[in-house]
Amino acid sequence: MKAVVVDRFGPLEQLRVAELPDPTPGPGEVVLDVHAAGVNYPDALMVQGQYQIKPPLPFTPGAEAAGIVSAVGEGVRHLKVGDHAATFTGTGAFAEKLLAPAAQVTPLPPGFSFDIAASLTLAYGTSYHALVNRAQLQAGETLLVLGAAGGVGLAAVMIGKALGARVIAAASSEEKLALTRQHGADETINYASEDLRARLKELTGGQGPNVVYDPVGGDYTEAAFRSVAWGGRYLVVGFANGEIPRLPLNLPLLKGASLVGVFWGEFARRDPRANVANLTQLARWVGDGTIRPVISERYTLEQAPEALRALLERRVTGKVTLVP
Ligand SMILES: NC(=O)c1ccc[n+]([C@@H]2O[C@H](COP(=O)([O-])OP(=O)(O)OC[C@H]3O[C@@H](n4cnc5c(N)ncnc54)[C@H](OP(=O)(O)O)[C@@H]3O)[C@@H](O)[C@H]2O)c1
Repeated sequence: MKAVVVDRFGPLEQLRVAELPDPTPGPGEVVLDVHAAGVNYPDALMVQGQYQIKPPLPFTPGAEAAGIVSAVGEGVRHLKVGDHAATFTGTGAFAEKLLAPAAQVTPLPPGFSFDIAASLTLAYGTSYHALVNRAQLQAGETLLVLGAAGGVGLAAVMIGKALGARVIAAASSEEKLALTRQHGADETINYASEDLRARLKELTGGQGPNVVYDPVGGDYTEAAFRSVAWGGRYLVVGFANGEIPRLPLNLPLLKGASLVGVFWGEFARRDPRANVANLTQLARWVGDGTIRPVISERYTLEQAPEALRALLERRVTGKVTLVP
C-alpha cells in the first residue's frame, strides 16, 4: 500500500509517499481501505515535532479516516468486510490502508459521506465537547467564535446555532465571514480590519458574549477576554496564531468569569462513552441537515505537504481531506 511517511520531525516538505506492506489485523483489529482522511492542524504540528504527542519515528501522520472494512481480525463482532466505517487513530490515516482497534471503528449509516465522516471526529468532536460539556452553552446566550471559518471554528458556529445560541463569528477576511453566515452566524467581525472590542460592544449592547471559543490565541485572546460578559466562559482551544497568550488574572476576577481548558483527545480517552454520545448526536445532526460540514478541498497522498501548508498559511476554509 502507499502511505505518507515522516522519517524525522521537520519541515512539511520532507514528507514522502512510500510503498509499505499491507497491514494484517490481529485479534480485535480491523483494516480500513481509506476513502478519505481528515486533515487537521495538529497533524501539521506533529509532523514538525511541535505537538504534545511525538510518535516514534518513522510514522505515518493522519488522525482520522473513513472507508471500507477490508479485513477483520479474530473476535471482532460489530464489523464485517465491506462495511462502511470511520475511525480516529491519532496517526496512520494518510495511507491507502489503516489498521485500527475495532473498538475505535464506528460503522456508518448507508450513504453517509466518507469526506464528512473523516472530518467529524476531531473538529466537530472538539467543538461539541467544548460548547456542551465544558461551557454548558445555553439557548439564547451569545457565543463569540474566533477563527470562525477554520476547521474547529466553523464547527463551533454550526454547533452553537444548533444549540440555540446567538453566534458572532470573527475571522480575517470577508470571504471567510460570508461562509460563516451561510452556516448560521448571526453577526460577523473582520478582526483584521475592525476593532474586535469596539464591535463586540456594539453588537452586544455593551454586555459582551457569554461564551468565547478561541482556537487562535495571540493578541486576540486578551481583547476577547476583556469583552466577555459577567459570568462568562472563555474556552481555550488552541493557538493557531503560534503565540500562547498570557492573561492578567484580575480579568477573570472582575468579570466573575471562567477560563475553561479544552483537550478533546484526553477527554475522549478518559470518557469514551461520553465521547461516543457526543459523536452520535453530531451524526444525527448531519443526517437531518441541522449541521452541514464543509469540505472545501480534496488532496491526494502526494499532496499531503500542500494540504498541511494551506492550513499553516491560513488558506483553508472548513475542512480539507486527503483521498488516496
Ligand atoms: N483543544 C483541542 O482539543 C483541539 C482539538 C483540535 C484542534 N485544536 C487546535 O485548534 C486550532 C485550530 O485547528 P483547526 O484544525 O481548526 O485549524 P484551521 O482550520 O487552520 O483553523 C485555524 C484558524 O485560525 C486562524 N489563524 C489565525 N492566525 C493564524 C496563523 N498564523 N496560522 C494559521 N491560522 C491562523 C485562521 O482564521 P483567520 O484567518 O480567520 O484568523 C484559521 O482559520 C489549532 O491550534 C489546533 O491545534 C485543539
